[in-house]
Amino acid sequence: MSVKPKTPDEIAHMRVACRLAAEVLDYIEPFVKPGVTTGELDRLCHKYMTEVQHTTSATLNYQPAGYPPYPASICTSVNHQICHGIPGPKALKKGDILNIDVTIITPDGFFGDTSRMFILGEASILAKRLCQVTHECMWLGIAAVKPGARLGDIGHVIQRHAEGNGFSVVREFCGHGIGRKFHEAPQVLHYGRPNTGLELAPGMIFTIEPMINAGKAAISELGDGWTIVTKDRSLSAQWEHTVLVTETGVDVLSLSAACPPPPALVDGKIKVAQPLAAPTASPA
Ligand code: MF3
Ligand code: CO
Ligand code: CO
Repeated sequence: MSVKPKTPDEIAHMRVACRLAAEVLDYIEPFVKPGVTTGELDRLCHKYMTEVQHTTSATLNYQPAGYPPYPASICTSVNHQICHGIPGPKALKKGDILNIDVTIITPDGFFGDTSRMFILGEASILAKRLCQVTHECMWLGIAAVKPGARLGDIGHVIQRHAEGNGFSVVREFCGHGIGRKFHEAPQVLHYGRPNTGLELAPGMIFTIEPMINAGKAAISELGDGWTIVTKDRSLSAQWEHTVLVTETGVDVLSLSAACPPPPALVDGKIKVAQPLAAPTASPA
């Protein structure tokens, strides 16, 4: 697997792309309330991207080999949906958990990719714990990023934390390199063994996006050709950031004003590039 580090110019463009993706999530957060449909959230995000940001959605009409074109500007995955949920006419209700995954393309052709969980009103203790543990999994993975570390180190800490809490890690989907393309090498697995896999080097940019199930890890695909659900219909959660390997550690590129801050369990392990503004959303 060859992974070319980004140039300083490419990194500068990626900072902008990833911040814009995060700002779509900041924008949509106040609209995520019981009664709203995922289709309406999609319409609002599309309008914000195109009319306010002058970005385009990377997911709209995205068509990897063997798939139908993806029909929406964001992915909305509710409850037992793991990822790639297609927005539609169904209204969200109190107690639902929702992942919104945003990937934008800047006018100069760079991709930014990030996703968050949203809890509608009061959710069950299990649902809240799943969202929180998954957020912690992502941040533990981020904290493992530094030059000389290896991809297996990231997967290992994520798997250990998920399984240690009685949850399971989805195997079929992974994080990915990103830049002028949506999905590049390397594949960033959310399970693995320490000290295995690609060695990280400054300038690499990739996503960390663990999908964690409350029940078993097995998945199934719905008839729409996109939506992935847990086979046992247990709840699933996902968080995603795009990160840069720096000379000394990691820089999280998809931060924004309303982005939930790192959890206490990574205190002192992360150097964030820019201080986070007061958070308005919380992971759980
Ligand atoms: N944003 C997703 C990721 O994190 C990919 C979504 S592809 C889509 O890689 F077609 F389902 F939108
Ligand atoms: Co991604
Ligand atoms: Co994504």
